[in-house]
Amino acid sequence: MYGICRSIRRRDITTTEGLSENDELHPLQAAFIEHDGFQCGYCTPGQICSAIGMITEFQNGLPSAVTKDISAAAFEFSNEEIKERMSGNLCRCGAYVGICEAVREALDTEVRE
Ligand code: FES
Repeated sequence: MYGICRSIRRRDITTTEGLSENDELHPLQAAFIEHDGFQCGYCTPGQICSAIGMITEFQNGLPSAVTKDISAAAFEFSNEEIKERMSGNLCRCGAYVGICEAVREALDTEVRE
């Protein structure tokens, strides 16, 4: 499959190209377009892959440095949580507002379904 390859230590690596299926964008990719989550696009693959990882962490109940109650069985995904979990990726164009809106939409539609 395009975008997915076998690599280091027999682990699968999924790139942003590998997220779409049957020529349809992944909901997070579509949300980035909908919310202008990019300008030049240089950081976008990393932003999207980080967001996918962040959503997976959320689904697995992993807290972040700003999680208010890490002993709670479930926690809310606040904007503060999104910003903290996405903080490792810098965007030179400053498209952070659109990026956060896209991630919020993906969380609201994907994770909570
Ligand atoms: S969109 Fe240009 S660096 Fe992020």
